[in-house]
Amino acid sequence: MKRSSLTSGKESILVVDDDPGVLLYTKGLLEMAHYQVETAACGKEAVQRLHGGARPDLILLDMAMPDMDGLHTIEACRRIRPEQKIVVLSCMSSPSVIADAIRIGALDYMTKPFYWADLEAVMNRWLVPVTSQCQHDGNDCELIDGNVFFVAASPAMKKIRGQISQLAKVDIPVLLLGESGVGKEVLARLIHKLSPRARRPLVKVNCAAIPADLLESELFGYESGAFTGATRAKPGKFELCDQGTVLLDEIGEMNPQLQAKLLHVLQDGQFSRLGGRTSITADFRLLAATNIDMQEALERGSFRADLFYRLNAFTVQIPPLRERRQEIELLVQHFLNEFSTKFSLKVPCHSPRLMEACLDYRWPGNLRELGNFIKRFVVLQDEQLAISELEEKSREMGRPPASDYRKISSNMAGLKSLVRDLKHSAEIKVIEEALLATKWNRKMAAFQLKISCKALRYKIKQYQISPPRC
Ligand SMILES: Nc1ncnc2c1ncn2[C@@H]1O[C@H](COP(=O)(O)OP(=O)(O)O)[C@@H](O)[C@H]1O
Ligand SMILES: [Mg+2]
Repeated sequence: MKRSSLTSGKESILVVDDDPGVLLYTKGLLEMAHYQVETAACGKEAVQRLHGGARPDLILLDMAMPDMDGLHTIEACRRIRPEQKIVVLSCMSSPSVIADAIRIGALDYMTKPFYWADLEAVMNRWLVPVTSQCQHDGNDCELIDGNVFFVAASPAMKKIRGQISQLAKVDIPVLLLGESGVGKEVLARLIHKLSPRARRPLVKVNCAAIPADLLESELFGYESGAFTGATRAKPGKFELCDQGTVLLDEIGEMNPQLQAKLLHVLQDGQFSRLGGRTSITADFRLLAATNIDMQEALERGSFRADLFYRLNAFTVQIPPLRERRQEIELLVQHFLNEFSTKFSLKVPCHSPRLMEACLDYRWPGNLRELGNFIKRFVVLQDEQLAISELEEKSREMGRPPASDYRKISSNMAGLKSLVRDLKHSAEIKVIEEALLATKWNRKMAAFQLKISCKALRYKIKQYQISPPRC
């Protein structure tokens, strides 16, 4: 079993579970991958270890334990060591417990039974090598330029921030991948700002917004008479950028002919204007961003593999907001300040219910959606309206908000309906995760879920589960 190259040194893990079989299994897997492993048979024992000075890099914590359950253990651990990283282990049928655990500070969760791949993914996500950690004085929010901020508070984003400060200095192309609204452009601006080209322009071209033939002349420029209507010569963005950085946004939408032409520029470092003979030396650094599934585009042939390999000298995969929930609170505060200052309005009154609703919601539009939500809240100054908006959207997505469950239990609608709703919600979560992990390969997802393809198709329809919107 090989450790990912991302991790180095001997990170220590404390596994807490009342089931000796689980302890043995998990310890075995982690030790084979050269982690230092300690085990504790109950929550109390784990808390005592921390009291005694133990400082594990990560605690893997079972949620269902007699005496002190997982939630109480998280609270006790975080009282002793607020920065303690905790990942919870739970059964599939307890989504509300998972939500509570995340709310009080757990970073992530794994459902039992789990395999090495699951464990490895969690380790890679949360154990950031010291060398690539964020170097910028522990501040979670920095100003890039004008009014563009960069917030990075989760281990995943801090790791990216650390990588960016290194790779910004090296004149190589960077490919930024991630769903719409995760911050690809913000990150491109940060790379430019930290690069030796920072004093030169950053030129952004949105490949999806411009028709293909116009895009070509936009990038390369043209001589007069190159085509009908080209009465005067015009330099293209590559030329105008001159020693700066070009960001090709939505590069996944670029047509294959233009992809071939771009490849030539990257290979030869030269290009000419449309209708021109003189070759111009290209002096720009290329950053490219897309929200398409690159692997699929390469397989389908809609994106040239040779161009892809030129572009991805370094690839940054930015996780969606739902995978870095611990940043939501900071982002809400950040956007509240940003927009109240911008519109000269007071920060609207809000209670912990607003934050709860934000933490509960899935944010398919990622940080862009969160920013726009807070913008509306600052303008309308109505907390109840804002919360209802999120709850309504959650219901439309087939994921009733947590408050609905509370209503069910407080109205005594009956244990049966509560259990049914929780079962549905657990099923939805587990199915969505399997589909996400298998990139919507239904056959593989069904295999992983140990149900038939037909049953999976039925459940996708029943719960109206759809691929994440990009
Ligand atoms: N790391 C971040 N810190 C602060 N705000 C961010 C961050 N990432 C994204 N945003 C906000 O989200 C909006 C969308 O980001 P953007 O970079 O345009 O996303 P993408 O290019 O991935 O669609 C930005 O205008 C900004 O307000
Ligand atoms: Mg964008």
